[in-house]
Amino acid sequence: MHLAVPPAQLISLADTYGLPLFVYDGGTITRQIESLRHALTVPSLEIRYACKALNTIGILRHIHQHGCGIDTVSPGEIIIALQAGVPASDISFTPSGVLTEEYAFAISKGVHVHVDQFHVLDWLDTHYPGLEITLRFNPAIQAGGHSKLQVGSDGAKFGILGHQVDAIKEKTQSLSLRITGVHMHLGSDIGDSGSFDQAYEYLLNVARKWADTITRIDLGGGFKIPYHPQDHSIDMPAFGSKISKRFNHFCEEIGRPLTMVIEPGKYLVSASGYFLMEVTVIRDGSSPPMAYVSSGFNHFLRPMNYGAYHHLINLSNPDGDLLHYDIVGYLCETDNFASNRPMHQIRKGDILCLMNAGAYGYTMASNYNTRLKPAEVLIHENGRQQLIRRAETYADILNTDLGYEPD
Ligand code: LLP
Repeated sequence: MHLAVPPAQLISLADTYGLPLFVYDGGTITRQIESLRHALTVPSLEIRYACKALNTIGILRHIHQHGCGIDTVSPGEIIIALQAGVPASDISFTPSGVLTEEYAFAISKGVHVHVDQFHVLDWLDTHYPGLEITLRFNPAIQAGGHSKLQVGSDGAKFGILGHQVDAIKEKTQSLSLRITGVHMHLGSDIGDSGSFDQAYEYLLNVARKWADTITRIDLGGGFKIPYHPQDHSIDMPAFGSKISKRFNHFCEEIGRPLTMVIEPGKYLVSASGYFLMEVTVIRDGSSPPMAYVSSGFNHFLRPMNYGAYHHLINLSNPDGDLLHYDIVGYLCETDNFASNRPMHQIRKGDILCLMNAGAYGYTMASNYNTRLKPAEVLIHENGRQQLIRRAETYADILNTDLGYEPD
């Protein structure tokens, strides 16, 4: 797999900032953004980056400077996007089953909200008459790289269900709210463009019902990127051309140009990220030998949570013999990064680089086992290296613990 950052530069960053460390390559993010713009030939396109994938302020600034808005799912994400200098008009809020207070917060900041629950519509109509909103629909199609990532399927908790569409239409006719957008999100890690076709077709059919008021159709995210060297990514040029044609045709049909919105997370940032870890111990007695690293699923959860493959490179011994290893973390339970993985010989002190660490790495990290979260570095397109988040300290953790006061 291709390293966009030379190994010597990664090793030097490890020396400077210590391990473990997340490193992101800004140029890779920009190239991914450009590939979407190139592929999607519609009169008006908005890329709203799903910042749950990675939302350090330095990253959000980079993405916003390249013309993207931000999709959020919580007040916390809204606060960070605003702090990054993204105007509220470029932020959307797509929560799932939250208290109406969270909608109130988003609206108070001027953020556009997406709704998929009847009771929220009533509440919004009472408190914010005339508000412009987007409705989120469930296309009832099963697609996604892992069962946990198939969020647009029939049984999923997201979106207005097919049998509710007519009732929602009737309801919105009696409300003052303005339905300016329709939305869906099918799932994550979807490489099969057929599932997207079907789902988008469904959404366009639903969109017809609000053809008089909609200005935007939000197709969600979920575009596949390669995790394994033999893996494929979604064929963006072919896929983009197909969906653009379909979208443009729909606009002609309703006699108005609409904005196509997409919400990629992984596609923009996954390949930009490198997670560097130090090898602490080699245990030879087991077969294959085990290489222990100074990290665990507290820092990078995807292998343990989804059984996800993440390519690993031995940065400090690239010419060593190819041997097989189990690569394990330091947490006090099963904590594997890889099993029986061919690697250039691993020695104590080597630096391993986990690829595709940009998306759902840091944002899914925790303090489990009271381990500290690592620092993050962004390499700007002009080569400047910027520490965008310092590593945590024990004081950060103790800060929220108020201790115990006897009665
Ligand atoms: N839009 C909405 C409403 C979403 O819920 C998501 C992701 C996205 C966009 C972006 O999806 P993406 O383009 O990143 O696939 N933690 C999992 C991924 C969970 C995705 C949840 N929703 C992972 O590590 O694979």
